[in-house]
Amino acid sequence: MELLDKLNWRYAAKAMNGEKVAEDKIERILEAARLAPTSSGLQPFEIIVIKNQELKDKIKPVAWNQSVISDCSHLLVFAAWDTYTADRINYMFDLTNDIRGFKNEGWENYRQMLLNSYPQKDAEENFNHTAKQAYIAFSQALAAAAFEGVDATPMEGFDPAAVDEILGLREKGLRSAVLLPLGYRKDDADWLSNLVKVRKPMEDLVTVID
Ligand SMILES: Cc1cc2nc3c(=O)[nH]c(=O)nc-3n(C[C@H](O)[C@H](O)[C@H](O)COP(=O)(O)O)c2cc1C
Repeated sequence: MELLDKLNWRYAAKAMNGEKVAEDKIERILEAARLAPTSSGLQPFEIIVIKNQELKDKIKPVAWNQSVISDCSHLLVFAAWDTYTADRINYMFDLTNDIRGFKNEGWENYRQMLLNSYPQKDAEENFNHTAKQAYIAFSQALAAAAFEGVDATPMEGFDPAAVDEILGLREKGLRSAVLLPLGYRKDDADWLSNLVKVRKPMEDLVTVID
């Protein structure tokens, strides 16, 4: 129940008050993102945490001038791999072997299967897949923020190419997928803060097949 209470409390804040979020809360929100499951466990994304005010102010105009970009405490940029490469795949499989302390034939066969398919695919198709994985972590961060009593605005309303340029992401083999400003709501400046949450009824969402 506690989780549902927090998810009912959260909303996509349209105005934030500039108050700083404590670093221990940010660490737990990032840890929730790190713990997100991903396809084949590859975690094909990075998270850029922007605290720098100048940088936030520079991003705001390429994010539809949304005020929360400037007025948030921490701006998370979920940046997905621009494609899959052999090095990137091997890094994660090697890390798994290192941490678990053994090699497993089935796991190594699975590595080969991925190496024989992913890197050969079109980069755009791969980015489509890596960005989906980034959204899983983004969603866990969003829920963790609510759990911490921290407001957040899930955000696709920005020009990804411009954000990539400002942050130099393409040079690092990354592309911005989605943004998550974190901070505290400014009730008196937010038309949405007192409106009832709207979701379609359960019967329009879920089909149970016995
Ligand atoms: C992926 C994604 C992108 C979104 N982009 C924006 C955005 O750019 N700006 C904004 O104000 N809200 C944005 N929203 C917020 C949604 O409009 C909002 O989550 C939805 O209407 C449900 O309302 P609630 O989150 O307040 O419960 C986005 C939400 C998601 C999940």
